[in-house]
Amino acid sequence: MVTASAAGKAILFGEHAVVYGEPALAIAIDARVSVSLEPCKGDWKIDGYPLDTSRHPHIAYLKNAILGDDSQNYSIQINSELFPAAGLGSSAALSSACSAAMLSTIGQPLDPEKISALSHLAEAAAQAGRASPTDTSTATLGGCVFVSDKKEQSSEWRYTRSLETPEGERNWEVHSVTLPPSVNDLWLVVGYTGIHSPTGDMVAGLAELLAKHPEKMTDISRMGELARNGVDALSNGDFTMVGQLMDEAHQLLAGVGVSCKELDDMVEVARRSSLGAKMTGAGGGGCMLALTTNPEETSAALEMRGGRVLVTPFGAPSVRIENS
Ligand code: MEV
Repeated sequence: MVTASAAGKAILFGEHAVVYGEPALAIAIDARVSVSLEPCKGDWKIDGYPLDTSRHPHIAYLKNAILGDDSQNYSIQINSELFPAAGLGSSAALSSACSAAMLSTIGQPLDPEKISALSHLAEAAAQAGRASPTDTSTATLGGCVFVSDKKEQSSEWRYTRSLETPEGERNWEVHSVTLPPSVNDLWLVVGYTGIHSPTGDMVAGLAELLAKHPEKMTDISRMGELARNGVDALSNGDFTMVGQLMDEAHQLLAGVGVSCKELDDMVEVARRSSLGAKMTGAGGGGCMLALTTNPEETSAALEMRGGRVLVTPFGAPSVRIENS
């Protein structure tokens, strides 16, 4: 049996905009998805049930891409510490861990670039061809990841990702960001609305809005600027600025229709005890994120509002094999 795990993620800046080539900044969070692969007799199984391609499109894609049609059959066990379909990158972490476990079963080494490429293609296959490499790169590389349309001086360049999307070819440069030690005084409090919201639907909804209202592309560009300013502020330890940029990012995301009342309420409540707060990920439900030095107070306020809470430091380890 091989078990691999990968981290969930929270997007600090640039969700949605990154699908259109704008930069995004994401943090690996302290909650992981693990995937165990064990050879089995009979059909492929996921958590004891036959593999259903429509329920597990990522796994179906990776099975064909990595192992091929005539491979040995496996039984897959998935364990997740993440709220599901909540914008915390659970499908990216699943894809990354699953790629690592499948590659390991065929004797291949843990190669983050290969794992993130395979997981990105699995996400794109499941999201009607529209997926940035943000979630899958963060799940795979861990730490803090900056995805941009160009190679950035400010952070360590890792690789280029390209994808043919319905809106044309997109290219992204993926970087790891080294954070200052002062980041250890800060916490991210993730608040879950309890509302499931499939990423593919939210991304497709925004694509429709932008096709009808091309003038909204200026908001998308501004989200990209915020991401760039956010990396600088974070790297310089200017967390007050990071918080202000988060507040503005939320306003823009709400303006293009990807927030919802529950997210807006939780963001509002969290702001009273934090440096800044915004929705994170695809939106329409899912999660919000607050940057705070006082995680107890922020968590309590969100729980009072009916949210489920996860507190995480900045960054978590990369994809890894847990045992083999
Ligand atoms: C989802 O976590 C992030 C989105 O930007 C989609 C993507 O980057 O593929 C909404």
